[in-house]
Amino acid sequence: MKGKLITIEGVEGVGKSTNINFISSYMESKNIKYLCTREPGGTVNAEKIRDILLHSEEEKVPEIAELLLFFSARSFHIENVIIPALINGINVICDRFADATIAYQGNGRGFDIKRINQIAKWVQNDLKPNLTILLDAPAEVGMKRTKIREKNDRMESEKISFYERVRQGYLNIAQNDPERVVIVDATKDILSVEKNIEKHLNHLFSEK
Ligand code: TMP
Repeated sequence: MKGKLITIEGVEGVGKSTNINFISSYMESKNIKYLCTREPGGTVNAEKIRDILLHSEEEKVPEIAELLLFFSARSFHIENVIIPALINGINVICDRFADATIAYQGNGRGFDIKRINQIAKWVQNDLKPNLTILLDAPAEVGMKRTKIREKNDRMESEKISFYERVRQGYLNIAQNDPERVVIVDATKDILSVEKNIEKHLNHLFSEK
């Protein structure tokens, strides 16, 4: 693959969008080819699945359906957007990816992480992010920020203990894969967060 896959992860309200904007400006300032995308979503069909996952009001979404829908959306996304971009030397900046399924459906919902990893291998083959930026903050910090929004979606309507498990899940992933996953303290002021992210991007793009 000529391009690199960079994923941004973290519980709700940690500032993913703001920092993705920062990463886009970084890429532009360095003249590095990139595209920004998100999960669930990023293709026509994956966005339809996103709508079911986040806004199904008329029908309950069983937890197993939720898990498999996240994987289905990812399959559309990998096949139709991510792989073609990487092959063409376009770097992909993705707002959430596979680690979210481990953290939310594994640690959050309680699905067996070994089984999730088996499905992940099936869906992703060997595709793995080159860099994952984990924006870390206590769950209550992020949840306070999302409460300010007008309406919370289905995934934003869990108890605080759910997001605490998700945060811990992310930290476990980072601990087990420190080469790929960098933890950025999202409670710090915006300039410190940006400086930290910039350092990791400089490192990634200076690699041969
Ligand atoms: P967001 O990307 O706008 O924050 O919304 C996506 C929501 O979906 C968020 O609550 C995290 C959740 N999610 C999962 O539970 N599992 C996944 O695999 C992914 C990609 C997202």
